[in-house]
Amino acid sequence: MSSADSRYTIVGATPEQQAAIDMLASQFLLTDERLGAIIKEFRRRMEEGLATDGKVLKMIPSYVTRRPLGSEVGSYFAIDLGGTNLRVLKVTLDGRGGVTSEHQKFALSEEAKSRTLFDFVAQCVDTFLDERNLRPLGQQPPIPMGLTFSYPVQQTSINSGTLVQWTKGLNVPGCVGRDVVRLLQDALLRLGLRVKIVALVNDTVGTLLSAAYSDPAAQMGIIFGTGTNAAYYEDVANLAKWKGPNPSSGEMVLNMEWGAFDSDDFAFLPFTPHDIKLDRKSINPRKQAYEKMISGMYLGEIARNIVLWLADQRLLLDGRSSEILNAMWFIDTSYLSSGAVDTTSDLSEIQQVIEKTLNISNSTFVDRQIFKVIAILVGERAARLSAVGVVATLTKRSDLLNKPVTVGIDGSMYEHYPYFHDILVETASHFIPQEQFKNINFTLAKDGSGVGAAITAMLAATYDA
Ligand code: GLC
Repeated sequence: MSSADSRYTIVGATPEQQAAIDMLASQFLLTDERLGAIIKEFRRRMEEGLATDGKVLKMIPSYVTRRPLGSEVGSYFAIDLGGTNLRVLKVTLDGRGGVTSEHQKFALSEEAKSRTLFDFVAQCVDTFLDERNLRPLGQQPPIPMGLTFSYPVQQTSINSGTLVQWTKGLNVPGCVGRDVVRLLQDALLRLGLRVKIVALVNDTVGTLLSAAYSDPAAQMGIIFGTGTNAAYYEDVANLAKWKGPNPSSGEMVLNMEWGAFDSDDFAFLPFTPHDIKLDRKSINPRKQAYEKMISGMYLGEIARNIVLWLADQRLLLDGRSSEILNAMWFIDTSYLSSGAVDTTSDLSEIQQVIEKTLNISNSTFVDRQIFKVIAILVGERAARLSAVGVVATLTKRSDLLNKPVTVGIDGSMYEHYPYFHDILVETASHFIPQEQFKNINFTLAKDGSGVGAAITAMLAATYDA
């Protein structure tokens, strides 16, 4: 990719418009040399987090030290609390690496996101059990459930851990520093619901475990969704900060919390004024810098900042805006996905978005081409940057790369953003020797986060996790 790339030539643009686009393209361009430097720093930060608590990359021990075998059978329940939705699931393991699941999805209300989260979760669990006649009565034993909690938690055991900070737009007061399982268990108790949370996992840990149930080669689980993060199996000998007992397996899944990379000094990632503006106006400024360039929660907002920057110079939409375009966070990343691959001759899909969604009439063909370039630049930078964490982690465990290794990936960006997978894999291939790279299998671990919590509940019940 270079700013001379013909995809960035706008047919019919004025010299001022083309100059602004060329400038954007050069800001969003990431050479391999630049990426290589970022990967090196990422590795350094991983080492730092393995050695000491409280570093930018937290490298949190998950207390999961086992792998599922794939031969386990039975039905297990789980709660999957993500950035946008909450799901309650019943997952059945078939003993041959396969799972079937039944789930109910609840959208997180604004009130839940800012105030009543745990009562809301308890209520949803109640609804799920009640509608299926599964609610334990009287003296029946409580139902064991796994909880996937997709926020940074300092685990203190397989089923307890304190919230480090909120990410991805949640901001419920009174939770940071407290045990999230306790908070949920109390809310369940308030409803008189006999449910016991037996396992607490991050969504990346869940994704890894669900991939591992069907594939013994699984070593890493990644989420590229509303937020981004990864987990992988690390040799406990490399985890200098670990003070607990040495697990018999010799390994432990670590929740990297990689979305925080570069948040302390903003020194390595390619910050543009549009990223800085997003960060400043976010509810967590100077936090989650890497996540803010990669994940679905933020890409629409970066694009909105660029659109307004151009419109304010009268280089786009003839300087016009609209109420919706002026509103923060209102440009959904899915519009970028569709815009980046609009191949209609008059860019009619982008026209629809400008006219129907943004409520701005009479867009010109030049306007629409500019929108397309913005969608491509923001999305491709995200996909290329996502390779940074992948390469840094896999090369950290290069001892594993001489045989097949599976990386399970879940999340809307990975699943739906056009070419995300292809760009990620192509970029990663530039930084890992070919004979090792051919052993890596990047695969979609659909619903990994919820299924993984059920698998952890199974592990907690059948082994000492
Ligand atoms: C955010 C959370 C992290 C989670 C990720 C993906 O980065 O902090 O815990 O894994 O989003 O959902």
